[in-house]
Amino acid sequence: MKLIEVQNYDEMSKLASEIIIEQVQTKANSVLGLATGGTPIGMYQYLMKDFTQNKTSYEQVITLNLDEYIGLDKNNPQSYSYFMKEHLFNHINIPENQTYLPSAKSVHDEEAGRNYEKLIESVGGIDMQILGIGENGHIGFNEPGTSFSSTTGIVKLADSTREANARYFTKMEDVPTHAISMGISTIMKSRQIVLLVSGVKKAPILNQLFQTDVNENLPASILKKHPDVTVIADQEALSILKEKKGSVFS
Ligand code: F6R
Repeated sequence: MKLIEVQNYDEMSKLASEIIIEQVQTKANSVLGLATGGTPIGMYQYLMKDFTQNKTSYEQVITLNLDEYIGLDKNNPQSYSYFMKEHLFNHINIPENQTYLPSAKSVHDEEAGRNYEKLIESVGGIDMQILGIGENGHIGFNEPGTSFSSTTGIVKLADSTREANARYFTKMEDVPTHAISMGISTIMKSRQIVLLVSGVKKAPILNQLFQTDVNENLPASILKKHPDVTVIADQEALSILKEKKGSVFS
């Protein structure tokens, strides 16, 4: 994993957007794997700004999101489908039928994961996958303990994940208990991965990620085995790691 240190959230967002823009400019029909949550919002804002100013075209781009809650309608403002439209798709020239999110009718919909895998394969695989990381080390919604060989399917959200995401809902009971998520092996098949880490809340897990061996209790640790991962982390996220390994970074 290559680590790029940046000052703050804004710098992380700008750099991540530049990496995506270069990808799209180099390969007009890029397949991008996208994430939701608080972390990539700034990056999406920079992509929109660039689209307005420089007209980088997404006409041939295909996007595949990591995950979606189960039980929320697409028009529900808390759904990831809505999130992506609001934060990116409605503001750039990507055709709607080239933007995909996994979706499952119920927690028993096993076909849904298989279909998403087929879809990813049919578009030639993911060129560049953007990831955030959960405070518990999850990537996508693959919670600690998930097998590294997992493929896209229904997952149960950890209590801590539901609590972390409760900020977007009126009450805790409204936070879905399950989601459909790309699997860990699915994510690992992406040709290039960019992991974004920002804020002091992520400092403990970022420290663990760099200090511990690859193991299923820390899903993101598998990224160490991928040949092309760039971690962009800001000073707050790096605070514990730098305190412990100061000399490595100086
Ligand atoms: C989102 C996703 C999650 C988030 C993670 C961090 O599509 O798959 O893994 O990246 O939960 O969320 P934030 O960015 O809100 O801290």
